[in-house]
Amino acid sequence: MERNLIAAGGPDTFVQLDDVSIAYGGEGGTLALTETSMTIREGEFIAVVGPSGCGKSSLLKLVSGLHPAFRGSVKVAGQEVTGPLKICGMAFQNSTLLPWRTTLDNVLLPLEIVEPHASRFGAHKSEYREQARAMLATVGLSGFEDKYPWQLSGGMQQRTSLCRALIHSPHMLLLDEPFGALDPFTREELWDVVQGLWLKSRPTVILVTHDLREAVYLADTVYIFSPRPGRILSRNEVDMPRPRRLKDAYTPHFIEMTQALREQIVSGTQA
Ligand SMILES: Nc1ncnc2c1ncn2[C@@H]1O[C@H](COP(=O)(O)OP(=O)(O)OP(=O)(O)O)[C@@H](O)[C@H]1O
Ligand SMILES: [Mg+2]
Repeated sequence: MERNLIAAGGPDTFVQLDDVSIAYGGEGGTLALTETSMTIREGEFIAVVGPSGCGKSSLLKLVSGLHPAFRGSVKVAGQEVTGPLKICGMAFQNSTLLPWRTTLDNVLLPLEIVEPHASRFGAHKSEYREQARAMLATVGLSGFEDKYPWQLSGGMQQRTSLCRALIHSPHMLLLDEPFGALDPFTREELWDVVQGLWLKSRPTVILVTHDLREAVYLADTVYIFSPRPGRILSRNEVDMPRPRRLKDAYTPHFIEMTQALREQIVSGTQA
């Protein structure tokens, strides 16, 4: 019942997966994800949680067009995905900043590559630089524009990565354990950075995380995946108003939600 509902879609559907499987090495190879149907609304923030190797990163590769579906169909913004999409920004666990570029020049990178910005970039460089400075200021990085990545802390590098992922106003943001390598305090600080950026421009977000508190704090909907080959075990709506505040993460309701998700993962792993 739930599955059909998820697969049904609607006028505000942005990402639609219909009975998708992902395999590496073709028939007889590794099946990472299987028979997955999912509908993500435009502007929705979803989190995907599940055991290591269940196909979470593969799901992001599928939606961004970096890896084709083995079976089934993937549509983004009503179009079948057949190759890498330019409308998405991405950020990963380890910051992938280019070490030979300054913070500002790392943030500018997508604008040099993605149209319609790329062809205007040369003639409007100062305008774009201002835009990047303003974005860095919103994440507390004013004054660090001319530093190189190795001169920044891990948390600052991740802030820079988030700015780079969002500078070209992507319709979709894909985050693969973006705070996995950070200490808990910095991580919680960055939850608010992400929430703030999302509330401002409302991209559709898929966040992959192992941190259930992070999933509940940030997402509208949390999907739990089974062990490999991954499938959706459950879809959980988070009924907490926005903006969420860190103190909300210590309320009985929040703790109950994370515990309920944890139990689902544990029973899914034992099944
Ligand atoms: N490029 C690849 N070639 C072959 N197999 C791969 C490739 N990428 C992933 N796999 C396999 O697909 C399965 C799912 O991998 P994936 O990276 O999607 O898992 P994950 O859920 O992101 O795990 P983790 O939580 O550890 O990051 C794993 O068994 C993995 O070994
Ligand atoms: Mg992964």
